[in-house]
Amino acid sequence: MIDKFQLKSKVYFNKQSIQLLEKISGSKAFVVSDSIMEKLGYLQKTIEHLNKAGISSCVFTGVRPDPDINVIAEGIKAFNESNADVVVALGGGSTIDSAKGILYFAYKMAALEDKKINKPLFIAIPSTSGTGSEVTDFTVITCENKKVCIVDEFLAPDMAILDSTCLQHVPQRVVVDTGIDVLVHAVEAYVSTRATDFTDALAEKAVKLIFENLEKLYKNPADPDARDRVQNASCIAGMAFTNASLGINHSLAHALGGTFHIPHGRANALLLSAVIEYNANLSGNLNDYAAQKYANLAKILQLPAWTIREGTVNFIQAVNKLKKSLGIEENIRALNIEQKEFEDALQHLAEAAMIDRCTPTNPKNPSKEDLVNIYKRCY
Ligand SMILES: NC(=O)c1ccc[n+]([C@@H]2O[C@H](COP(=O)([O-])OP(=O)(O)OC[C@H]3O[C@@H](n4cnc5c(N)ncnc54)[C@H](O)[C@@H]3O)[C@@H](O)[C@H]2O)c1
Ligand SMILES: [Zn+2]
Repeated sequence: MIDKFQLKSKVYFNKQSIQLLEKISGSKAFVVSDSIMEKLGYLQKTIEHLNKAGISSCVFTGVRPDPDINVIAEGIKAFNESNADVVVALGGGSTIDSAKGILYFAYKMAALEDKKINKPLFIAIPSTSGTGSEVTDFTVITCENKKVCIVDEFLAPDMAILDSTCLQHVPQRVVVDTGIDVLVHAVEAYVSTRATDFTDALAEKAVKLIFENLEKLYKNPADPDARDRVQNASCIAGMAFTNASLGINHSLAHALGGTFHIPHGRANALLLSAVIEYNANLSGNLNDYAAQKYANLAKILQLPAWTIREGTVNFIQAVNKLKKSLGIEENIRALNIEQKEFEDALQHLAEAAMIDRCTPTNPKNPSKEDLVNIYKRCY
């Protein structure tokens, strides 16, 4: 089999890298963002930078967290009216995913009508350190409470601008949710059936950066170095998983978060330890591939790993310790989700997770029953 590693997005980073907008070519920008970015003044600054390049802006601030198809439909209408040759997504994963969805479906619809339109320059400026969406060819759109993951090379932005000055006012809870999402991206890419030496190098670095910096950032949100490092980790993990894909942690989190309206990173965090235990098959004969890789991560964190089992157990303990230090709930029940409501939803959640785009690359092939059991363990 011929394997491939590819990164489409050019990545520009360091403070004030947003000024790069003053040097791009174009005449009209369609800027996708949300009301919070507008309120915090980041949107206005972006428009001013674009102005300096002689680019006028048409703004769409209709993004809502976990964007649904209505957001995409409103965005397509505004995009089609804008005649833009540049698209700028300024915001968290929800905003970047919305811009991707808008572009993707606007082009699909134009193709159906035999209209030819040039693809604009697509620039993503993340305002959270979590999804890595600025470099991935994934977008997640919610449809009737179900999160649908679309994967297509078309979706990857042309340019990613990592300017951590856009992250100064991220609420502490969002820092935690998004930071843990980075860890789950890196860990899932690392044990994915499509992992390679290239993606492993990126995943290992992202795991190390998160363990070294996320708690620091949580305790001191003004720490500029920790903020930069976590932002880099987010993008690096994105580079890993856009090539290696993810696993059932994300499949289970998509279904759980979509149904019970739990932020994406938090849903992932609540499932992570149980998913590692399941993938490594800790309760029986170890799954050599996955357990060895979790043990490698323990070694990278300088935890004892004389045997594969010891390394895996220590890695799980390190994950649990990190979650505790970030104030993450111990289980799903702690989010005030009624037991009956949860149990009634289990079959439907597991069915959705089985057909999620992230499941085929999980290191262990799950049955629906396995997924139900993981949910039960996490409740
Ligand atoms: N495309 C991908 O590769 C990918 C990967 C993982 C997750 N996702 C999806 O991304 C979405 C989650 O994105 P997210 O975790 O970045 O959260 P988000 O974009 O939903 O943002 C969370 C909240 O934080 C606010 N916020 C964002 N930046 C801020 C800032 N700088 N200051 C203050 N407030 C700010 C937002 O307005 C929002 O209310 C989910 O829908 C998830 O499924 C996509
Ligand atoms: Zn994620």
